[in-house]
Amino acid sequence: MNHRTTTRPWVRAFARGLAGLNARHPWSHNDHFHGWVLRRLPVRRRSALDVGCGLGGLVGLLADRFDRVDDVDADAAAVRWAAERFSDDGRVTVREQAFGDVRPPEGSDGYDLVTMVAVLHHLDLVPALEHARGLVAPGGRFLVVGLARVSTRRDVAVDLLSAFANPVVGLVKHPRAVRPARSGAAEDGSPAAPDVLLRDATDTVDAIARAAESALPGARVRRRLFFRYTLEWTAPRV
Ligand SMILES: C[S@@+](CC[C@H](N)C(=O)[O-])C[C@H]1O[C@@H](n2cnc3c(N)ncnc32)[C@H](O)[C@@H]1O
Repeated sequence: MNHRTTTRPWVRAFARGLAGLNARHPWSHNDHFHGWVLRRLPVRRRSALDVGCGLGGLVGLLADRFDRVDDVDADAAAVRWAAERFSDDGRVTVREQAFGDVRPPEGSDGYDLVTMVAVLHHLDLVPALEHARGLVAPGGRFLVVGLARVSTRRDVAVDLLSAFANPVVGLVKHPRAVRPARSGAAEDGSPAAPDVLLRDATDTVDAIARAAESALPGARVRRRLFFRYTLEWTAPRV
C-alpha cells in the first residue's frame, strides 16, 4: 500500500499564512507569563532569584516587589546586557553563573522566590529540581514557566489550539504590523543566547509532573496555552 505522507497543499498554504501573520504581529510567549508569576508571589518578599534571566525581562517587575533580586545566567553577553540595564537599581544584582553553582543568599534560609522562565529544559531535569528545592526558603515559592516535548494527544490538542489562538493574541497585543527582520537579529541589538547553552525540550509534561512530584512534593504542573507549561511549588514551613 502506498502511504502518502506529503502534507496537502492547502494545509501548507494555511500554515505559511499563519506563520506570516505571526511574524507581522509578534509577541513573546515567555513575557506573556510574567503576569502568572506576579499573581503567585510569596507573602514574604525579601529576596528573589531569576534563573536564566536572559536580557532581564522579568527582573524589573520583581525589583519593584522584592527588597533584593539576584539574576543569574550562564551567558556572558546576556549578563552584560542585563547588568547594564539595571546598573542604577541597587536592588538588582546580575551574575554570570551556572544554576548549579547558585547558593542561597549568605546568612539567609533561602530565597523567598525562585523563578525560571523558559530555562528548565536547558538543564538536567531532576538535579535542577532538587537544586531549586535547596534554594527556596520555608514558605517561599518556586515558579517555572517551561517548554516540554509534545507527546500525547492532549499535548497536540493544546498546541493546535495555541497555534490558532496565537495570531489573535498577536493582533491584540501588537495591532500594528511590523516588517519581519530578515536576519533574525533583534532590532534593539540585544544578544541572542549561544546555541551551546540552549537545548530543545526533551521531557514531556507528564514526565516533568512525575519528576516534580518526587523532588518537590505538592508541586502543581499544568499544560498552558501558547506552548508552555507551568510548575508552582511552595516550600513547606519547617
Ligand atoms: C530561552 S532563554 C530565556 C531567557 C529569559 N528567562 C526569558 O524569559 O526571556 C534561556 C536562558 O537560560 C540560560 N541558561 C541556559 N543554561 C543555563 C544554566 N545552566 N545556568 C543559568 N542559565 C542558563 C541561557 O543563557 C538563556 O539566557
